[in-house]
Amino acid sequence: MLEKTYLADANKRASGPYNFADYLKQYQFSIEKPAEFWAEQAQALAWYKPWDTVLSGDLVQANVRWFEGALLNVCFNCVDRHLVNSANETAIIWQGNEFEQVKYFTYAQLHEQICRLANVLLSKGISKGDRVCIYLPMIPEAIISMLACARIGAVHTVVFAGFSAESLQSRIQDTQCKLVITADEAVRGNKSVPLKLNVDLALKNCSSVTTVLVIAKMGAEINGQHEWEVDYRAAIADADINCPCVVMAAEDPLFILYTSGSTGKPKGVLHTTAGYLLYTTVTFKQVFDYRLNEIYWCTADVGWITGHSYMVYGPLANRATILIYEGIPTYPDVSRCWQIIDQHKVNIFYTAPTLIRMLMRSGNEPVQQTKRSSLRLLGTVGEPINPEVWEWYYQVVGAEHCPVIDTWWQTETGGFMLTAFAEVTSLKPGYAGLPFFGVKPALVDNAGKLLMGENSGNLVMAQSWPGQMRTVYGDHQRYIDTYLTQFPGYYYTGDGALRDAQGFFCITGRVDDVINTAGHRIGTAEIESALVSNSQMAEAAVVGYNHPLKGQGICAFVIPKQGVIVDEALKETLLKEVVQHIGAIAKPDIIYFVNNLPKTRSGKIMRRILRKIVEGGAIKDLGDLSTLAEPDIIKELLALR
Ligand code: WT7
Repeated sequence: MLEKTYLADANKRASGPYNFADYLKQYQFSIEKPAEFWAEQAQALAWYKPWDTVLSGDLVQANVRWFEGALLNVCFNCVDRHLVNSANETAIIWQGNEFEQVKYFTYAQLHEQICRLANVLLSKGISKGDRVCIYLPMIPEAIISMLACARIGAVHTVVFAGFSAESLQSRIQDTQCKLVITADEAVRGNKSVPLKLNVDLALKNCSSVTTVLVIAKMGAEINGQHEWEVDYRAAIADADINCPCVVMAAEDPLFILYTSGSTGKPKGVLHTTAGYLLYTTVTFKQVFDYRLNEIYWCTADVGWITGHSYMVYGPLANRATILIYEGIPTYPDVSRCWQIIDQHKVNIFYTAPTLIRMLMRSGNEPVQQTKRSSLRLLGTVGEPINPEVWEWYYQVVGAEHCPVIDTWWQTETGGFMLTAFAEVTSLKPGYAGLPFFGVKPALVDNAGKLLMGENSGNLVMAQSWPGQMRTVYGDHQRYIDTYLTQFPGYYYTGDGALRDAQGFFCITGRVDDVINTAGHRIGTAEIESALVSNSQMAEAAVVGYNHPLKGQGICAFVIPKQGVIVDEALKETLLKEVVQHIGAIAKPDIIYFVNNLPKTRSGKIMRRILRKIVEGGAIKDLGDLSTLAEPDIIKELLALR
């Protein structure tokens, strides 16, 4: 790895922490006196009533609560409070696939749209605590829907528009949603996704849903084909423009977002009101050093946590102007992102390494034909960024004057955990950096022994932070088992990391059976169960492997049943199976048909061996094979390469 460091220029910093010494001082304070630190930070929000206790409960008892006793509303903080001075400032710039498709929403207009929708939700019997499912493409209504829920205390669960009807169904069933907000279709480049049709399919087994609001995006007529169907736009037009914010308690649920783990179905990660909002607000401001009137573009989809924390909640609570783009980054060509930056004078660009790697492959010319002079800061998230890619992002895209801020965090953490701070901490390509305030990372070995100094191991957190998830919706035991029991007293991230002599962290990737492919998180177990749901399959094992563009590719080893004919058509069938059960993002890049899988004597699949088989390398690199039940399997596997 290149061990280069770029120094911060504290003269360029606009708000605190003002320099590295300041960071260190505040960090120490935040760790030693978290309650005092977060009480000070809480000034960033508007509260109807202050808290009685900043922090109660702990990681061991899995009952952490922040700002107990306080009352507030998230929508009020993200929109209403800005109306006093900034009603006519732009809140959202929406850019469609075509250049001329642009829409602006001022904070006042956003407020009106939210109030109208909130009244529609109320009129459909939605009230505080009810779950609402949002299944939409990147259109302003997606954000309006989230905020309308927050306004009346409904708990939203956004489902990425790339997920299949089946995935949608299991999420609706798990949350017992009463209402779904969707659109007739989503368009991705020249592909169309039949969202409404997927909802119809999903609802065949979802008795909890009583209303579906449909946005006629592509002009389809919403004619009440089903009695629960309502035309979103018609309903909004008739609704009142006044709707009071519901007063919420600090620990009332704000949203549920599903994410994949090592085993079983995706988990409904639950985030609550005060801690989550405060954490996203403060991290956004301090890490990016956000300045009023800057144009901020996060390329994430609303269906992921980045689209919640750093497209909607954190930025809007800071009264930012956000840009959202509905199209694909390569339409009409690979220069599109940089053209959008010029067109809208974007100051902060926040994206994933997978996109940077893809654009880097097209060379410097498509970048250099644009100016990008508005850019001040570049951010990255979602997977480790290779130092070469980091350098390209810094040198070519940012023309060596924009810090590249690598932010490590997870759906479960709500916001940034390990990160660079713009112009405060020095930048080390490939390293996510230092802990945010109040975050106490640690490394432990597999036996749970704490590792000190320069070292590598399992990344854990030794202290709660306000943005921490509170539970797995409907299954608190699963929350405890997944995150809090592996290493008692710590929150377990599932990532491996190394720490250098200065305390900078470099994330080495997941250590569990979770694949991070093109910035999307998918559990191997989910893909395996989709594959074996095909009646011709006996067994399947899925592993991630190093992939030059996607970070990790997906490789499936499948055992067909006796007598099944193995051919290209069978591969196609299996791919379709995965698309139907999960979505196109989970499609294996490689499928190997085998007669056997490497298992231990107790029957556990040795994925480590499979990973090595796909990635190549010598037989000696396969590691310890003595626990293999049938050593002959190695020969068969090697013959695949
Ligand atoms: C996993 C979490 C956080 C929003 C997007 C992903 C990986 C995330 C980084 C980074 C190296 C990263 C980790 C983590 N990851 N950011 N900057 N460097 N790895 O959220 O879907 O919950 O996935 O993404 O493996 O555990 P997520």
